[in-house]
Amino acid sequence: MTAAVREDLDLAPALVRASGEQFARAAADLLERVIAGKPDAVLGVATGDTPVPVYAELARRRTLGLRTDLLTLVALDEYVGLDPADARSYQHYVREEIAAPLGIPFGNVHVPSGLSETAGDDYERLILSLGGVDLQVVGIGRNGHIGFNEPGAEVTSRTRRVELAESTRRANAGFFGGDPEAVPTHAVTQGIATILSAREIVLLARGAGKAEAVAAAVHGEISSAVPASFLRRHAQVTAVIDDDAGGMLA
Ligand code: GLP
Repeated sequence: MTAAVREDLDLAPALVRASGEQFARAAADLLERVIAGKPDAVLGVATGDTPVPVYAELARRRTLGLRTDLLTLVALDEYVGLDPADARSYQHYVREEIAAPLGIPFGNVHVPSGLSETAGDDYERLILSLGGVDLQVVGIGRNGHIGFNEPGAEVTSRTRRVELAESTRRANAGFFGGDPEAVPTHAVTQGIATILSAREIVLLARGAGKAEAVAAAVHGEISSAVPASFLRRHAQVTAVIDDDAGGMLA
């Protein structure tokens, strides 16, 4: 049902280079192919700035007839301590930026709880009960994180509570009034193994701030030092990279 992680794999992700307005279209094409073939697909969704225009492009395509309201959404992560109603929570982001424009009932929106002690195990059970994730969208942090799997995360990791790197709290301060101290210190994130159990993965990266992490993920050693490098253990990964984020690729 879900793919096993192959320890011996080191596969180059398929690379799609697309900049400016083409970025959202190229990424939306990949999502649309899955959605059109399976309107009730389970879509794993990343938060952050990078995918915002991609979700907007999908919503535009909905107005042109693409059926999106039967999708189930599964988020990658959530901040610990934030109420789901908090406008800075990922629960709020996924509802407002993705589910509402795509016409998906909130009952089909799943985000790990930032308030429950058992959030990790609960979320693993939930993903299994949904039959796994058909297509997982992931972004990449400047330090190579995926979800909130910071450097040091193991390839075998599952959904769990993690501590955020200081650099991640600085990077995400914009969502918290510009104050890194206001960013929660911990999060609940799908693990690397959880992410790799999706049937297909699309990695999105825009901007020069991601160039080093993208190059390390694509060409560097596969290791916990760059969690995104573990995506090369999966056979169905496509990376959509703009010119700036791809600036250090060979
Ligand atoms: C955040 C999220 C990730 C996201 C990444 C990049 O901290 N936890 O899921 O992909 O960092 O975010 P952005 O697209 O805003 O650069």
